[in-house]
Formats: sequence, C-alpha cells, structure tokens
Amino acid sequence: EGGAHIEDHAFAHEGPFGKFDEFQLQRGLQVFTEVCSACHGLKYVPVRTLSDEGGPRMPEDQVRAYAKDMLPPVADPVTGEERPREVSDKFPENTGAGAPDLSLMTKARAGFHGPYGLGINQMMKGMGGPEYVYSILTGYAENPACAPDGIDGYYYNTAFANGGIPDSCKDEAGHSTITGSWIAMAPPLSDDIVTYADGHAATVHHTAEDVTSFLTWAAEPKMMARKQAGLTAIIILSVLTVLLYLTNKTLWAGVK
Ligand code: HEM
Repeated sequence: EGGAHIEDHAFAHEGPFGKFDEFQLQRGLQVFTEVCSACHGLKYVPVRTLSDEGGPRMPEDQVRAYAKDMLPPVADPVTGEERPREVSDKFPENTGAGAPDLSLMTKARAGFHGPYGLGINQMMKGMGGPEYVYSILTGYAENPACAPDGIDGYYYNTAFANGGIPDSCKDEAGHSTITGSWIAMAPPLSDDIVTYADGHAATVHHTAEDVTSFLTWAAEPKMMARKQAGLTAIIILSVLTVLLYLTNKTLWAGVK
C-alpha cells in the first residue's frame, strides 16, 4: 500500500475558538526538557517567551530558574565567556545525535495535503504538522512481516514515510507494500517516562499530545493573538456590513 498513516487528532488549539491549554504546554515543556532535549535543539525559541500570554504563561521567577538550572550554560554573545543561561537567551541548539531542530517542526511537516496538495485537510480538519509529530511519536510498531528483522539501527514507524524500505517490502514495480518506513530515532516515549507535578496521566499518548502541543506553540507563539485579532476583525466587519446595508437603503430610498 505504501505511504504513511497520519492520525487526525483533536488538539486544544484547533478551530477558530481553540486555545492552547497553558498547563498542557507546561507539561509538554517538561517532556521536551526531560526527554527530547537529549537529542533535539530548540534554537529559535527565546526562553523568556515561556511566560508570554497565549503560551505556557509560567511565572517569571520560575522561567528564570528554569533558564539557570535546567538549561546548559551558554557562551555570552558579547564577552564570549561561558555563563549560566538567562531568560534573554534562546533554548540550546543540539546537533550531536543528528536530530533536526524542533523549533519549527510542526510547521515544517504536514499531515496530509489532500488531493492535489491543496491543503484541504489542514483547513477542514486542522490536520497538519501537529498530527504528523503526534503520529510519529505514537507510530512505532513491530517490524512488518515482509522485514521481520527490520533495518539495523532503525525503528519501524507507521507515520514516517521518508526512511529506507528493504527490497522484501517492495512490489515488482519497486513500490513500498507497507505503511511507513524506518526512522533513525528510537521510540523516545514510554508510559510514565516523566512524572507530572499535577498528577496528570503520563502514558505515551498523553506525553505525546502534551509535547506536540508545546512544540506547536513554539513554532507558532502568536497563534492566540492572531485568532483574537481575526475574531475582532470579523465582528467589526459584520457591524460595517449592517451599516453599509442600511446606508445603501437610505441613499436609494427615493429612487426605488
Ligand atoms: C527525528 C521529535 C526525542 C533522535 C525527529 C522528528 C521529530 C522528532 C518530529 C522528525 C521526523 C521527520 O524528519 O519527519 C521528537 C520528540 C522527542 C524526540 C518530540 C521527545 C519526545 C528524541 C531523542 C532522540 C531523538 C531522545 C535521541 C535519542 C532523533 C533523530 C531523528 C529524529 C536521530 C532523525 C531521524 C531520521 O531522520 O531518520 N524527532 N524526538 N529524538 N529524532 Fe527525535
């Protein structure tokens, strides 16, 4: 069959009235910090934005402590000397494991473009990058029957379409007969890999949803402000429509 399986998923931020859940973003930050940051960087995200409105909204003293205690030191851009990270710094870059930076990952990848690459599903179902990341994190599976031993050093994942496919999983025309392929990232999540302070369940599905929401915010930190502005614009335009209609009626009243 080929291709990859991307699951639609209802995130809190989806739809015209959808909002990031700040506590979910905070849990996602914890998953990123304790798990993903071992291999992945987040180099475009300024640490101070963790206290922004429309984001995780962490208290500023907590963000300062996070920068200092949880993140590796940084070379000061002015003096060149190493010092503890501050809120004005960005999250670390991390290329050691060959893993891509996650700052813009939920925008860089798509779920399913729909027929002719029109982005229909993205628009109608809100199905896009976040679904892709969530599906990768939850998409690890046993090797398929056509390649019981898999590929050395790679992990079979039903959502990952860009990896290698062994010849035994191709048809005569050379097309893949399986869903997904093999990815170089070992399954990063397992049940209870983190312990949430709020007592929230930490299954693979929960942690995947939390960290994906966090990464969606990281890639689109102004989403809430944008939705608010859009709503305000629609209200103003609706009022204007009514006024113009009435004006039109009044102006032409004598002629009709
Ligand atoms: C790739 C997310 C943890 C190593 C990726 C990709 C995503 C991702 C979205 C991109 C897949 C693509 O190219 O389409 C995450 C998240 C993590 C996490 C959210 C934490 C929950 C880790 C850890 C490691 C790692 C702990 C190392 C032990 C890699 C590598 C790749 C990768 C090497 C490149 C895979 C390839 O292109 O075959 N990760 N990751 N990741 N990740 Fe992670």
